[in-house]
Amino acid sequence: MDSITVIPGDGIGPEVVECALQVLDVLGIGLSADVLDHVCADRYRRDGLALNEADLARVSASSAVLLGAIGRPDLEETDYVRGVLLSLRHSFDLYANCRPVRLWHDRLSPLRDPASRMLDCVIVRENTEGLYSGIGGNLRTSSPQEVAIDADINTWHGVSRILDYAFFTARREVCLVDKANAVRAGGRLWQECWRRSAERHPETATRHLYIDAAAMKLVTEPGRFDVIVASNSYGDILSDLAAALAGGIGLAPSASLNPESGFGLFEPVHGSAPDIAGQGIANPFACLLTAGLMIRHLGYKTEAAAIDAAVAGSIAAGRVTPDLGGSLSTREVTRAVLAAL
Ligand code: NAD
Ligand code: IPM
Ligand code: MN
Repeated sequence: MDSITVIPGDGIGPEVVECALQVLDVLGIGLSADVLDHVCADRYRRDGLALNEADLARVSASSAVLLGAIGRPDLEETDYVRGVLLSLRHSFDLYANCRPVRLWHDRLSPLRDPASRMLDCVIVRENTEGLYSGIGGNLRTSSPQEVAIDADINTWHGVSRILDYAFFTARREVCLVDKANAVRAGGRLWQECWRRSAERHPETATRHLYIDAAAMKLVTEPGRFDVIVASNSYGDILSDLAAALAGGIGLAPSASLNPESGFGLFEPVHGSAPDIAGQGIANPFACLLTAGLMIRHLGYKTEAAAIDAAVAGSIAAGRVTPDLGGSLSTREVTRAVLAAL
């Protein structure tokens, strides 16, 4: 039996993870779940602990992690968020962050012209380098002369493997997004690795856009994209933008993978949504679709397709939470999905 680690987290995290666990239960695939509900903002505030060795050992003993969301605005949260999310991504070298975005129903598109709305792409985000390296610091702190430096680390190894992974994921095209016209060193490295990776994958069409133009094109011609590959921070930003085009962040799943070891961390793209936490109205779809990505990765393809179909059915029938224009609660939406399954 596959075992997974579950980190519900903070805010709406536990609210949507509860729904996902019910859905997994109904599918009857017999996953055993080790729930680390002590990994949360309360413990961090009390003990200054994000993830400790014992937690990491429990994660290591499982096949995958399902995480709700981490973060609370009343905390000095950089160290906490880094201590949980970035620590998991780095500890298991989860360099490929896949964020599929698809328009589940025409009604959800913010664009007026129906012909221009289609969207079904995957954002492949480099997940272990870039501006998230943690290298840097503050000079002359708290003085009018303060200078803050965050190194944007890009390695040949890290860039090549994410580009190759993007080609591996693509159906018809890979679009590289960078800022090589302005950012010199990293720009050069990405461009050189890009040329070589494209040569290794001649069967796939390629396209290159600078990040500013890519943001625009995602809105004006979303249907043209297949796989978008980008650095850690550009991929982060584009995935929220794409999620909005597909009806909202409450629908966006994500998988952080190490394709060599097969280990994965599965979490919705959204955060802990403190503005709606505790109201029972969080959209559970992102977390359900994330659970779907997780079980597909573990080999349960039929069950994963059943989750997708049940979500699509709920959306088509208007059984949705307020963020999608409905009036149902998190639990009512989950009941509709469970009934469909
Ligand atoms: P957020 O994604 O939590 O919220 C942005 C907006 O989207 C809010 O208005 C929120 O109500 C709405 N929203 C998000 N998820 C929703 C859902 N399932 N249903 C309905 N509406 C939803 O982003 P933020 O406000 O920038 O960050 C809040 C906290 O979450 C911060 O502490 C941040 O660091 C953290 N965060 C964590 C993760 C993660 O754990 N993977 C991801 C992003 C942000
Ligand atoms: C995400 C989040 C995280 C990120 C934050 C909370 C560190 O925005 O998973 O998209 O930027 O990676
Ligand atoms: Mn993000």
